[in-house]
Amino acid sequence: MEPIIRTENLSIQFGGHRAVDGVNFKMQAKHFKSIIGPNGAGKTTFFNLLSGELKPTEGEIFLRGKSLASDSSIERTRKGLGRSFQITNVFPNLTVLENVRLAVQSREKVRFNFIKHYLQYKAITNEAVEKLEQVLLGNKVNAVASQLSHGEKRKLEIAMLLALNTEILLLDEPTAGMSLEEVPTILEVIRSIKEQGDKTILLIEHKMDMILDLSDSIMVLFNGKLLADGTPSEIMDNETVQNAYLGGLYDEQLIKT
Ligand SMILES: Nc1ncnc2c1ncn2[C@@H]1O[C@H](COP(=O)(O)OP(=O)(O)O)[C@@H](O)[C@H]1O
Ligand SMILES: [Mg+2]
Repeated sequence: MEPIIRTENLSIQFGGHRAVDGVNFKMQAKHFKSIIGPNGAGKTTFFNLLSGELKPTEGEIFLRGKSLASDSSIERTRKGLGRSFQITNVFPNLTVLENVRLAVQSREKVRFNFIKHYLQYKAITNEAVEKLEQVLLGNKVNAVASQLSHGEKRKLEIAMLLALNTEILLLDEPTAGMSLEEVPTILEVIRSIKEQGDKTILLIEHKMDMILDLSDSIMVLFNGKLLADGTPSEIMDNETVQNAYLGGLYDEQLIKT
């Protein structure tokens, strides 16, 4: 089966530094893959290349076999490649519901026609509420975005991503900066999206227990290079990965918890 997304020799150079270096990666539809690697490994840059925020110095990205080289971020979203919103994309003075409505509208490009407009208004609102319920924010629809807790803001970002209705979801550290009590609900949200079964998900995370719980496969980035890509047990048993990365990561986690 043709991979839904793949890269060929994907590379980007910042000055003298190759942040992403010759990455050949592929993924089947409906698959859940996590990306791990130490800080500075190139994980976020890899997402920025996939989503079109950055242009590669070398190499190419193929979505369902077609090159994305000439597609902007917006075109990529339209074709089904969605990147999670950062909190900087959220309007702080609007309500949670209004923010998700805007994300739905950015997809639908509502035509201005009065009767149709009213129907669409209801349809868009219903859809926004549904996405908010899916991320367990159904009780916060009328809250002002700036007043959400950190964890609730990350859920709002996920709801806005879901509102784009893309088949592929790129999630960059959805638990970053969260309190320990907030982490399990994000895990629950991501698991429910996975279990719905219609999405292809790429997740960057540091929390190994969460990664092992969710992932069909794990790829390891190290100094911009793809060090390994395999099932969770293959990655845990991989000696190169252990030497380069996992040993240190477990030490780090033990200190934290
Ligand atoms: N826009 C940029 N300009 C210059 N250097 C960058 C830029 N974005 C990222 N980098 C560098 O690329 C490397 C990889 O960064 P990043 O992808 O953010 O790593 P990760 O997400 O794995 O922590 C880092 O050395 C970082 O400083
Ligand atoms: Mg990052």
